Amino acid sequence: MNSAELTLPATDDAQERYFQELIDRDSRIEPRDWMPAEYRTSLIRQISQHGHSEIIGMQPEANWITRAPSLKRKAILMAKVQDEAGHGLYLYSAAQTLGISRDEMAEQLIAGKARYSSIFNYPALTWADMGAIGWLVDGAAICNQVPLCRASYGPYARAMVRICKEESFHQRQGFEILLELSQGTAAQKEMAQDAVNRWYWPSLMMFGPPDDESPNSAQSMAWKIKRFSNDDLRQRFVDMVVPQAEVLGLTLPDPELAWNEDRGHYDMGEIDWAEFHEVLAGRGPCNAQRMQRRRDAHEDGRWVREAAAAYAEKQAAASLKAAS
Ligand SMILES: [Fe+2]
Ligand SMILES: [Fe+2]
Repeated sequence: MNSAELTLPATDDAQERYFQELIDRDSRIEPRDWMPAEYRTSLIRQISQHGHSEIIGMQPEANWITRAPSLKRKAILMAKVQDEAGHGLYLYSAAQTLGISRDEMAEQLIAGKARYSSIFNYPALTWADMGAIGWLVDGAAICNQVPLCRASYGPYARAMVRICKEESFHQRQGFEILLELSQGTAAQKEMAQDAVNRWYWPSLMMFGPPDDESPNSAQSMAWKIKRFSNDDLRQRFVDMVVPQAEVLGLTLPDPELAWNEDRGHYDMGEIDWAEFHEVLAGRGPCNAQRMQRRRDAHEDGRWVREAAAAYAEKQAAASLKAAS
């Protein structure tokens, strides 16, 4: 069923009912459809935060491009970081369809008013971190994002389809880096294990606070933006990575991890929520550095934006002249 098959409403009440009907039928809301103001605001917040995460997320890995151990590794890592830039751009475009401009979003990020995923406030200390980030961070992103391919807002859902395809490549390349290291020398295996030890818990925090402390989740699920709760997604992720860790020959740093026959899932230890809130509040190991780098990049790119705007203006004037 698509929106064209429903009768178009006239009054505000009818519009609201029509919106709800589209949601109930699992149809998509498109940019020109009427939507409640809160639905719009909540999507702008979510999509722009997601876009900011992709953009800031380029930093920990870009840091290793020049130090990648071979030309092949360098090319792969560079392609991955470029993919993340592309994800940021698709998402900013999706958010723009809701009425916010790119400049506003950039401004919010630079001013520290907008959030991005806290995971990128951790440092990438060794080459093995490129493996752990790909495997765990992109892996957690996939668990979070696959259900978003069915989000009720059309432009967001469609952007996620391509993003998810690229994220699975990212996860595989991370896994492959770790596999090679874990089958290498004792020092290489130790480096891989150390990276996994440092990235495992922060990757679990990527799913957000526990369900009973996640105030926006219920509304987001009622609007079919979010399809599964934070804890459900976290569980899925843990169930996915435990057997993968076995293949890698690495351990996960949670002594309480154990298969629970009754639940059909792995039990896990308690997350350090104090650390989660500290990083979220801006006091993680790299928050200040990531923001400074983004501000500098924005400033360094000013001449490009000005040149592009001047060129576009010139082109528009020329085509206007040609038309008259
Ligand atoms: Fe991405
Ligand atoms: Fe990625």
